[in-house]
Amino acid sequence: MGNKDVMIHLEGISKSFPQKRGSLEVLKNVDLKIEKGEIFGIIGMSGAGKSTLVRCINLLERPTEGCVYLDGTELTCLCEKDLRLQRHSMGMIFQQFHLLMQRTALENVCFPLEISGVPKEKAKARAKELLDLVGLGERLGAYPSQLSGGQKQRVAIARALATEPKVLLCDEATSALDPNTTAGVLGLLKDINERLGITIVVITHEMSVIQEICNRVAIIDGGQIAEMGSVEEIFRAPKTKAGRELVYHEGANREAIEGPIPNCYRVVFKGGSSGEPILGSMMIECNAVVNILSGNTRMIEGKVHGQMMIQLPEDEKTREKMLAYLKERDVEVEEVTYV
Ligand SMILES: Nc1ncnc2c1ncn2[C@@H]1O[C@H](COP(=O)(O)OP(=O)(O)OP(=O)(O)O)[C@@H](O)[C@H]1O
Ligand SMILES: [Mg+2]
Repeated sequence: MGNKDVMIHLEGISKSFPQKRGSLEVLKNVDLKIEKGEIFGIIGMSGAGKSTLVRCINLLERPTEGCVYLDGTELTCLCEKDLRLQRHSMGMIFQQFHLLMQRTALENVCFPLEISGVPKEKAKARAKELLDLVGLGERLGAYPSQLSGGQKQRVAIARALATEPKVLLCDEATSALDPNTTAGVLGLLKDINERLGITIVVITHEMSVIQEICNRVAIIDGGQIAEMGSVEEIFRAPKTKAGRELVYHEGANREAIEGPIPNCYRVVFKGGSSGEPILGSMMIECNAVVNILSGNTRMIEGKVHGQMMIQLPEDEKTREKMLAYLKERDVEVEEVTYV
């Protein structure tokens, strides 16, 4: 990837917040390159540092160390005035929409245009176009209180697009919405990316959001990038503990199980065993049953990916036969202490 294809480049970004005693290091030496025109996901558990990271991209938060480049321009060395200009190239949307309640949808979208000195009539015309684009052409005069969550987010998206940004930063933009509305908003973001060529950064704690629209994803854990790759790669075989937790919701069912469980194995399907009810056939073949403790599998391109936690029989011979059966079918098996 040549640098001319890079839209956002974070170089050695660290961020600490001063505390009563000492300081809290929230981001640790983050390096990241986001390409022009891609939809890039950043996922992590609550408190991992996602919002801080995205706020470092538009310098709402000043990194303690490191440089931020936008389309080749270093932002971290600009004066406030030049930085304000560059910020026009970055729109942002949030979980809580942040609309002005006393203003109509149209007036909300006009707001950033007026601030940047666009004449009123011109601003209005542009705002109308944008509200049309997000599917709200009929609700120009509605106040936020008269709109649903999904509609409010559409207004916020239109507002973010008003200054014709190169980049749209979305911090948990669908976390307050129900699944159907989420799908609509994600579809809109994808459409905006394709039609306007805007680079989109999606911050979320939900893997389903990433799976729906992102090209690449970075997993952030404890303020560091744990792993990064194409969405497909990360889904197929997360390499880190943080990655496995997010992809497989590992540990989600743990409270229900008390104490360590003997003969417990993690079975990872990597797409080789397409749709075949492999565990079922194994039980028939070996004439013994297994206990499925938890499972999280999904179809990618018609093949099964994901993992199951299973408990194999006590009898050692049967167990070995089962393990051999799975390994022959290119299923990865590892013994785990399930506690
Ligand atoms: N302004 C601040 N001052 C002090 N600490 C902060 C500040 N902003 C964030 N933090 C701390 O930084 C850590 C990361 O916060 P951040 O909001 O970036 O997490 P997040 O990954 O976005 O979490 P969530 O998924 O809950 O939104 C947290 O421990 C938080 O308390
Ligand atoms: Mg956050």
